[in-house]
Amino acid sequence: MSDDDKYLNGELLINARKPEGELGSELIDMMNENHEGLAQWSLSHLNISKNDVVLDVGCGGGVNIERFLKMTEAKVFGIDYSKLAVERSVELNRKAIDEGKCEIIQGSVSNLPFEDDSFNIVTAFETVYFWPEFENDLKEILRVLKDGGIFFIANETVPNENDSRQKDLIELLDMNLYSEDEFKRYLLEAGFLHVTCFTKDSKDSFTGDDADWICVIAKK
Ligand SMILES: C[S@@+](CC[C@H](N)C(=O)[O-])C[C@H]1O[C@@H](n2cnc3c(N)ncnc32)[C@H](O)[C@@H]1O
Repeated sequence: MSDDDKYLNGELLINARKPEGELGSELIDMMNENHEGLAQWSLSHLNISKNDVVLDVGCGGGVNIERFLKMTEAKVFGIDYSKLAVERSVELNRKAIDEGKCEIIQGSVSNLPFEDDSFNIVTAFETVYFWPEFENDLKEILRVLKDGGIFFIANETVPNENDSRQKDLIELLDMNLYSEDEFKRYLLEAGFLHVTCFTKDSKDSFTGDDADWICVIAKK
């Protein structure tokens, strides 16, 4: 079976929700590589300064943690509820962890093991689709952000009635897609002060099908 077949029949893709086992590890390899374009485009909209303490939620294979370690001199944290994702992120960022510059923890966004007002920037790449209680989870992000801090979301899928694959994908992964308007509404209702969205007509990083990318910058 080719990688594309496995992706389409869901055997591999199911691991996007919570990577586990051999296929989970295979998907992490693919995400680390395939999400590069989304990360580069979306992060061109975010200023990270050398004193910013950063948390990446749903860190997957840890490439964005590795990226942030090159952008800030402050500590970079990662969290993911998948044991495998944490292991892979730790493996990739071992040197920074040993030097005390990085910490990666297994845990859920719904109950972040951090003090109030801990971070300048919290990021979420391709993960908010799976968060179990979006309104409460946003309040949890708000709690751990410092005043003036930024919550940054990057997704490569937005709701699109004309995309026939989306219904299957949503069912398979039990995921929630959010439009620009929905992001704004949820974030403002959660208590963020200001929300800006950027979009781009692009391609799905796995199938190459047309896809709309979105990134969201929400200020506490
Ligand atoms: C599609 S992967 C994206 C991984 C990585 N951010 C990237 O862009 O390659 C989604 C990740 O979010 C994690 N995740 C999903 N729901 C979560 C939750 N409630 N709390 C913490 N992590 C979660 C999954 O375990 C998975 O590693």
